[in-house]
Amino acid sequence: MARKIIIDTDPGIDDALAIFYALAAPELEILGLTTVFGNGSTQMSTANALHLLEIAGRTDIPVAHGAERPMGMAFQGGAPQVHGADAQGNLFLPAPAGKPVSMHAAQFIIDQVMAAPGEITLVPLAPLTNIALAFLLKPDLPQYIREIVLMGGAAFVPGNITPAAEANIWNDPEAADIVFGADCNIVMIGLDVTEHLFLPGSRLEQFASLGNPRADHLARILPCYRDFHVRQLGLDGIHVHDSSTISYLLRPDLFTLEGHPVRVELTGLGRGKTWPAVGRSDVESAWAGRRPIQIAVKVDADAALALEWEHHSRTLGR
Ligand code: BDR
Ligand code: CA
Repeated sequence: MARKIIIDTDPGIDDALAIFYALAAPELEILGLTTVFGNGSTQMSTANALHLLEIAGRTDIPVAHGAERPMGMAFQGGAPQVHGADAQGNLFLPAPAGKPVSMHAAQFIIDQVMAAPGEITLVPLAPLTNIALAFLLKPDLPQYIREIVLMGGAAFVPGNITPAAEANIWNDPEAADIVFGADCNIVMIGLDVTEHLFLPGSRLEQFASLGNPRADHLARILPCYRDFHVRQLGLDGIHVHDSSTISYLLRPDLFTLEGHPVRVELTGLGRGKTWPAVGRSDVESAWAGRRPIQIAVKVDADAALALEWEHHSRTLGR
């Protein structure tokens, strides 16, 4: 039986890769896409999520529009320099034909989880606001979730938006600290591994010849993401951050995990830093009572990238 997942997302170029990758995997059943701000506004995320499903011919999958601002600050304005002003590589697509469901994303998550207790995996690829809101609305929800496999954080490596913080966590640290404190299984796929998953420019150029509508769209948006990596990081290619969660769901054996309780820094220069409780831990009361988060610290990058590439090459048959 396929594993039921809900993808919480701010699409986003690497979100598009992850969503298309998941859609091509029969082992996964996507119950819905829930949207949030991050790479752009929530409005933009919802339009892009609907677009991606239309491109893939999967308009049967519902989209639920979520939180429009972080819990403890204003929306930080997105990442037009990374993902384009429309978060889809500056394509400025016409409005999608479809509409989101009338329910808030947090309520959608609650209803889906409670309809199949213990079966649903949440896959957040964006700030954790919708998940935290769902936990505040229904505090016992975590015990009914099978697992959370999230892209976010940087445990033992520097951040990518500040020296301390990874972008998804930095965009709503308060929400992230609530989620990391929840009583459920959480796997954190952060920069510790995603920065080892690098698709070179030569590979990106091959999307155009794969000959399916998902790959055609990716071929149009990837140049923007590639340019950012060239300009800012001096790398000709891209990190496939969000897709790493899908590789983990399909092949967890490719990842090495370490379990540590995690707190999120909420103040000062370190705001958004994910702190695992490691090292001299005799004064760690702030971490007390938290379940260990399974932090990905190593990945078989060649195998994960080959797996992802093979999925992008597939024609969707249902
Ligand atoms: C994360 O930040 C976003 O820009 C990407 O879509 C990804 O989810 C990487 O730090
Ligand atoms: Ca994302």
